[in-house]
Amino acid sequence: MIKNQWYAILESKEVKKKPVGVTRLNEKLVLWRGADGKLNCIYDLCCHRGASLAIGCIKDNQIECPFHGFLYDGSGQVTLIPANGKADKVPSRYKVHSYIVKEKAGLIWLWYSDSNDGDIPEIPFFEELLEGFIYKTFAEVWPVHYTRAAENQMDVVHLPFVHTSTIGKGNKTIINGPVVKWQDNRMTFYVDNVFDDGQTKALKADQIENYESLFKLDFQMPNTWQNYIDEKVRVFAVFAPIDEENTKIYLRFYQKFLPVPIIGGMITSISNIFNRVILHQDRRVVLTQVPKKTELAMGENLIPGDLPIIEFRKRRKLLKETAN
Ligand code: FES
Ligand SMILES: [Fe+2]
Repeated sequence: MIKNQWYAILESKEVKKKPVGVTRLNEKLVLWRGADGKLNCIYDLCCHRGASLAIGCIKDNQIECPFHGFLYDGSGQVTLIPANGKADKVPSRYKVHSYIVKEKAGLIWLWYSDSNDGDIPEIPFFEELLEGFIYKTFAEVWPVHYTRAAENQMDVVHLPFVHTSTIGKGNKTIINGPVVKWQDNRMTFYVDNVFDDGQTKALKADQIENYESLFKLDFQMPNTWQNYIDEKVRVFAVFAPIDEENTKIYLRFYQKFLPVPIIGGMITSISNIFNRVILHQDRRVVLTQVPKKTELAMGENLIPGDLPIIEFRKRRKLLKETAN
């Protein structure tokens, strides 16, 4: 995992009144909302004798270990050891790691870093999705590293093979481009898939004029993606790393051509069913990929059409190196 990044890890609605225990980024986490409404996230392993705090109770803004009642605040500090008495001051060594979490766009984002100090950047979201869109989410766990799940959505070569019956109709096997552009840590890639008449060679990225008029997708490092279907319709995804071998995918259909609650919500739900079909066409193949995790140098024989994947691997390497 790359340090010093905001990762989308859960949907906000997954943390309600009770504590929630999840594994994300290889770490056991417990999240809860205090009586003050603040969202908290600390390491889910009691520093006393290793019980999970996630099955404990919320007491005002704090969480109580279910085993011997140690009380933790949002910074991970134990504030009360009941067996020692309320009058006893708790030494600072009774503490677990805490994580900075924020909410945006109905998602919980975790600042993944060795340090909670220093300047923390804004959460990098596709801001236009906050303006007038409604959405529905479909979520499921894939037994792959998040790099495989994410790269699948940067793979513009697979469409006529994996999605023959859906978005890959027309046997458009030639890949013109893709053209890849970066802005900060956001990659936008433009592509034109065309039918192979036997006479045509794929155009390289630098042979394409007016690339901005082509079909485009965005990938925001480290783990969010947007399929820009048109001004009013998008598919958005989060690839939330669970551990080295599992990823929770949150797939959202966004629309604002009918942004009204009941009928708009129904259309959004139906569209999401279609997206689930497409995602399951992907899943059938991606789950067979070996190894489960990707790296820049890993012995795969990539082709020009894989440029977004190559760029993603390069950027991961760069961000990892600069974070260390
Ligand atoms: S294990 Fe948590 S208080 Fe003992
Ligand atoms: Fe796909």
